[in-house]
Amino acid sequence: MTLLDHLPDTVSIYEVGPRDGLQNEAATVGTVRKLRLIEALIAAGCTRVEMTSFVSPHWIPQLADADNLAQLLEAREGVSLSALCPNLQGLERARAAGLREVAVFLSASETHNRRNINKSVDEAVAVFAELVPQALSHGMRVRGYVSTVWGCPYEGDVDPRRALALAQRLLALGCYEISLGDTLGVGTPVQTQRILKLMLSEIAADKLAMHMHDTRGQALANVLIGLAMGIRTFDAAIAGLGGCPYAPGASGNLATEDLVYMLHHMGISTGIDLEKLWDAGRVAEAIVRRELPGRVHRAGLRSLAG
Ligand code: HMG
Ligand code: MG
Repeated sequence: MTLLDHLPDTVSIYEVGPRDGLQNEAATVGTVRKLRLIEALIAAGCTRVEMTSFVSPHWIPQLADADNLAQLLEAREGVSLSALCPNLQGLERARAAGLREVAVFLSASETHNRRNINKSVDEAVAVFAELVPQALSHGMRVRGYVSTVWGCPYEGDVDPRRALALAQRLLALGCYEISLGDTLGVGTPVQTQRILKLMLSEIAADKLAMHMHDTRGQALANVLIGLAMGIRTFDAAIAGLGGCPYAPGASGNLATEDLVYMLHHMGISTGIDLEKLWDAGRVAEAIVRRELPGRVHRAGLRSLAG
């Protein structure tokens, strides 16, 4: 039996470009330009889009327009628009803006957690122990992120058992899925296999997603390991936008076009139209006014027939 004998028919893609990408742009992108990007992603068939963050505007000024942006976006049948929420103040803003889904986030390493949200990991868990049930009681869905699973910019190696315990805690609070983050983009395939083996010994594969930054070009290789081990949801950012402002050295997420190109050519459907997605990548580049690194974005498409 080879690695890829049991591939799925479909995979779910969770688009993070408008949030993870634009939070990291040196120049703040205006609300109208953000709307253009999100509309282009939806037009391409993206049904799960993390569009912004209801975080402190002192910390992430690039996303200070979250309330306005969310209000300007119409809810659409079959499309889930989500946003990061670090605390109850963020949840209240998300609710007021009409969101049906939010995402909570913490790190498997103490120092990154503190630098990112100004709390210890235990304090963050205590905040989410209030936030998640409140969100659920308002009929919202809550996704959870565990960051720095593959390594921390401040502490180096991270014990995957810490990430597992936090993922279990967030699931127990009511998160429907946990996205495991390689925040720095340092992970490699054998390490990914080791991490996922541990995770899957305790958590069902359909509760897990992978969020791989492509800083060192390893993201697709890690995704292949995830696919072979049963992971069916992957985060990606259009044209490779992205980073984490509180993780020095972290660059863009796995580019959505690269992921979709690989999956479609492997016979795995995503519900996304790759040509329209490529157009959305052009919109991303136009709104940030700089070249973006996605490989398919730069090289162009090859027809399935050719
Ligand atoms: P703090 O300074 O400790 O907060 O920040 P505070 O509660 O002491 O409040 C200080 C000020 O912030 C007050 O305003 C609050 O009102 C305001 P002031 O009275 O000084 O004018 N404030 C807020 N304003 C609006 N919305 C809110 C909010 N909360 C407080 N929700 C806090 C703590 C968590 C707020 C802050 O650290 C923060 O916003 N951090 C967010 C950092 C962030 O967004 N990082 C990037 C996302 S994580 C990531 O990229 C990783 C990921 O992609 C996965 C991966 O790659 O691994 C998800
Ligand atoms: Mg990220």
